Order: sequence, then C-alpha cells, then structure tokens
Amino acid sequence: MIKPVRKAVFPVAGLGTRFLPATKVLPKEMLPIVDKPLIQYAIEEAREAGIEEFVLVTGRGKNMMEDHFDHAYELEAILNERGRKDDLDAVQQVAPESGKLSYTRQRRPLGLGHAVWCARQFITGEPFAVLSPDDIVLSEKGCLKQMMEAYMEVGGNVVAVEDVPRDQTNRYGILDVESDDGRLVKARGLVEKPDPADAPSTLSIIGRYILQPEVFEFLDKLEVGTGGEIQLTDAMAKTIGNVPFHGFRFEGKRFDCGTKIGFVTANVAFALSRDDLSSDLAAALKDII
Ligand code: UTP
Repeated sequence: MIKPVRKAVFPVAGLGTRFLPATKVLPKEMLPIVDKPLIQYAIEEAREAGIEEFVLVTGRGKNMMEDHFDHAYELEAILNERGRKDDLDAVQQVAPESGKLSYTRQRRPLGLGHAVWCARQFITGEPFAVLSPDDIVLSEKGCLKQMMEAYMEVGGNVVAVEDVPRDQTNRYGILDVESDDGRLVKARGLVEKPDPADAPSTLSIIGRYILQPEVFEFLDKLEVGTGGEIQLTDAMAKTIGNVPFHGFRFEGKRFDCGTKIGFVTANVAFALSRDDLSSDLAAALKDII
C-alpha cells in the first residue's frame, strides 16, 4: 500500500553566495521570476500536486518570506478602495490557509540534508516532498505533480532527474543506474558531485524529492559529506536496499536560479511563456540582440 504524500518541506536557509551581492539582504528564494518570487512558485507547484501542509526551513535574514505569506492589511485595503481586483486577488491568493504553513529554523546553514532534518518534527512518520525553490521547472503539468503520479506506481523514494553534460557531473547528485525504462530509472546508488571521470552516469538530481521517513534514520547521524556539508543525497543513498529508489525524467525545462545565468534565462523563458508579455519581450530581445 503506497501512502499518499501530504506534506512538503521547503529548505530556504542557504546563504546564496553564488548570487551576491543581490542576496546580501534579499533571500535568494525571494528573487522574482517575472513578477513572483521563487518561493511562491514552489508553494504553488506543491499545492497543484496535492500537498496540504507546508514547512519552510528558514534561517537568519529570511523573515521576509513569512511576511510574504501573511496578510498585508494596508495594501489590501488600498487595492480594494481603488477597485484593483486583479492585483488584490494576486496578493490574497499567495498564502496557504492559516495553520497549514509552518516555519522552523536552521540555525546554521550546514547543508541541505541538515535543513531537511530540521523539519523532522513536522513529518511524523509519513512520506513527504522536498522542493528547493531555486530550481524551477517550466512545464504544462507541475514537476511535483508528475512525480506524484509516478510515485503512486512505484512508491519509495522518487527524485526528479535530468541528463547533464558529463563535464558538469561535479555540480550535482548523480545516479548509479540499475535499470532505465526511459521515464523511470531504478537506482542502485547515488554519488554527490562526482568528478566527470568517476561519475556512474550523467543523470543528475534536481531539487524535487519524494522521500520516505526512513531517511531521518540516517540524517539523525548528522554525518558530514562532500563539501563539508550534511548532504541529503548521502542519507538517501543509505536507504537504498530498504526503500525502492527511482529517478523520474520529468517533462519540462528546468532552470537553476541559484546561478546568475539560470536566473536570467528563467526570467526570459517564463516571460516568453506568458500571453501578456511574450510578443513585447520577443520584440525587445530581437532589438537588443
Ligand atoms: P544551495 O545548494 O543552492 O546553497 O541550496 P545556497 O547556500 O543557498 O547557495 P550558494 O551555494 O551559497 O550559492 C539549495 C536550497 O537549499 C537551501 C537553500 O536555501 C536553497 O533553497 N539550503 C541549503 C538550506 O536551507 N540550508 C543549507 O544549509 C543549505
């Protein structure tokens, strides 16, 4: 019996050093893609996938996200007075219902695995999703919803994967593939940021995970891995054998908004996908180039 996934963890406590100076004060996850911050895209993707409870793992200097998901009384009153209904809807639809959005704190950014571990009390023995808001996927059906459908077939741990050029394997968690049907990839192992020469494949994990609670048995040990960080991939790798582990090739285009080029490209791609912006932007880009 495959248990449904009702909860999602959003690790948002990282320092975002690859995006300085923009992220000196502004949380990376509040950077906007067109007119919405990254974290809001992630919450909306989770909601579309059927997630009912949301946990943000925040840290120092990240309070702005709590305000973003709160009521903005003055602003809402002014928009209401001025009859700006569309803007009012956009502001009011941002937040999950009261009591469905929780915050916990990672006191020091010790790595993604540690951030997820900080949310352990909210998970209480259930499968859960993890979404890294700086990875964003442009697709018709949300990436997590696609993963949920695959998960209901195979259960266990399911991570979103895509092929990367071999010279980039040292930037990602990489799957050691046991079998591959083109959509679902059964993994026998996982390696964090392997050198291209040692990489067991070129299938990289992006920031979307469906995990079984067994991962906490290993995260609890707080073992430090590659780059001196507590890695989520290390804990996931240790559950292989006890918990089925599949990579899922999602449909859509993924952008790594933790990098400047990924962020700028995502803005262009998302704007081009919108009816209200595409033709003006296409003309503007043609003019610039
Ligand atoms: P990154 O690996 O991009 O790390 O985190 P980072 O610290 O944010 O950025 P750089 O490498 O310094 O530029 C992926 C996601 O995991 C969160 C981040 O906030 C981001 O959403 N994260 C990372 C944490 O919550 N805690 C951590 O200790 C590390």
